[in-house]
Amino acid sequence: MASTSTLKLDLYRHYYYDNNNNNKAMAKAKAKAKAKVDAFNNKIRLRPRLLLFPLKSSRSTARTTTAAAATTTTTPVMKKLTDEELQKGIANFYDESSGIWEDIWGDHMHHGFYDIDARPSVSDHRTAQIRMIEEALRFAGLSDETGTGEEAEAINIKSVVDVGCGIGGSSRYLAAKYGAKCEGITLSPYQAHRANALASAQGLADKVSFRVADALQQPFGDGEFDLVWSMESGEHIPDKTKFVNELARVAAPGGSIIIVTWCHRDLGPGEESLKEWEQNLLNKICDAYYLPAWCSTSDYVRLLQSLALQDIKAADWSQNVAPFWPAVIRSALTWKGFTSLLRSGMKTIRGALAMPLMIQGYKKGVIKFAIITCRKPQ
Ligand SMILES: C[S@@+](CC[C@H](N)C(=O)[O-])C[C@H]1O[C@@H](n2cnc3c(N)ncnc32)[C@H](O)[C@@H]1O
Repeated sequence: MASTSTLKLDLYRHYYYDNNNNNKAMAKAKAKAKAKVDAFNNKIRLRPRLLLFPLKSSRSTARTTTAAAATTTTTPVMKKLTDEELQKGIANFYDESSGIWEDIWGDHMHHGFYDIDARPSVSDHRTAQIRMIEEALRFAGLSDETGTGEEAEAINIKSVVDVGCGIGGSSRYLAAKYGAKCEGITLSPYQAHRANALASAQGLADKVSFRVADALQQPFGDGEFDLVWSMESGEHIPDKTKFVNELARVAAPGGSIIIVTWCHRDLGPGEESLKEWEQNLLNKICDAYYLPAWCSTSDYVRLLQSLALQDIKAADWSQNVAPFWPAVIRSALTWKGFTSLLRSGMKTIRGALAMPLMIQGYKKGVIKFAIITCRKPQ
C-alpha cells in the first residue's frame, strides 16, 4: 500500500482552474497564488498528487455582495446558474458527499465551536460540533443553563423546523433535548432518507421526520414552529430576502429564529462591494460548494429588522471556528479520508480541494462565521 506521506497534493491546480485567461495580470495573479499554495504544500506533511483531475470550471454563479442589492462583481467568463440548476447542484453535491462525511465526521455537517486559541485533539471535534448547537441556543436565550427559575421554565419548545437539515444531526439533538417534534427539510434525497433511517435506528421516528423541500417554499403553514433552526444552510440560498421571510412566516408568535451561516465581512463606510480579490476568492468557494450570493451579517440584521422581528442579535464566531477547517483537511489526508474521497466523486473532490480557500477566507477576514438570532413578536 502506498504511504500517503509520499503523495503530493498539488493544490495550486485548484487555484488555476477557473479562468484560463493569459493576460499579464492573470499571469501575475497566478504566480502569486502558486507561491502561496506552494508555501501551503511545504507546510503540510501529507501531499497526495491529484494531477489526474482536470479542474477547469464549467459552471459558476454570478454573485451579489449584499442580500438586498444586486451588485454583481463576477468576472464576465462566469455563467450564472438558474435557481433550478443551483438546486440540482446542491442536491447532487450532498447526495454524493454526505456518506463520506458521516463516515468520518458523524451526523453533524457543521463547524465545531472551540475556545479561542484552543488546540483541540481529534476527539474534541465531535464535542465541538455539539457545543456549536449548545452555544447557538445559549446565544438565543434558549439554553436551560441560560437562566434559572422563571427564565428556564419559559423555554418551552415543542416544535422545531430544521431548515437545511443535512442528515438530521441537529434535529435529533433538539428533539431529544426539548422533547420537541422536529421537521427537517433538505434538497438532497439521500440526506432525507438517511436522516429518517437514523431517526428510526435511534428510536426517534415518532419525534422527527425529514423530507426533500425547498427552504424558499417550505411545506408548512404559518406560525407552526417554536424554534426555526438554520444551521449552515443560508449560504446556499440564492434569495436571502425570501429566505428570511420564510423563516419568519413559519415561526410561531413568540418563537425563536436561529441562523448560523457563512457571511462575507461587513462593508465599510462608503464601500459598495467587496474588493475584486475578495470576490474572486469567494467565487472559487462558491463554485466548489454550490453557493450563490453571499451577504454580510449586517445584511441579515437589516432583513430581520425590516420584518419587525424582535431581540435581534448577531455575533461573529469566526475565531471560535478557526480549528475546524484545518481538522477537516487533516481528516481528508488520512488514508481512510483520502481513499473515501477518491471513491466519492468529482463534486466531493472539488469541495475538498477548496478547503484551503476557506481557511484563507477566514484568515484574511473576508469570510465571517455568523450567528443571527431573533424572536417573532407575540
Ligand atoms: C452544510 S449542510 C448543513 C446540514 C445541517 N444543518 C447540519 O448542521 O448538520 C447544508 C444543508 O443545507 C441544505 N440546503 C441548501 N439549500 C437548501 C434549500 N434551498 N432548501 C432546503 N435545504 C437546503 C442542504 O441540502 C444541506 O442539507
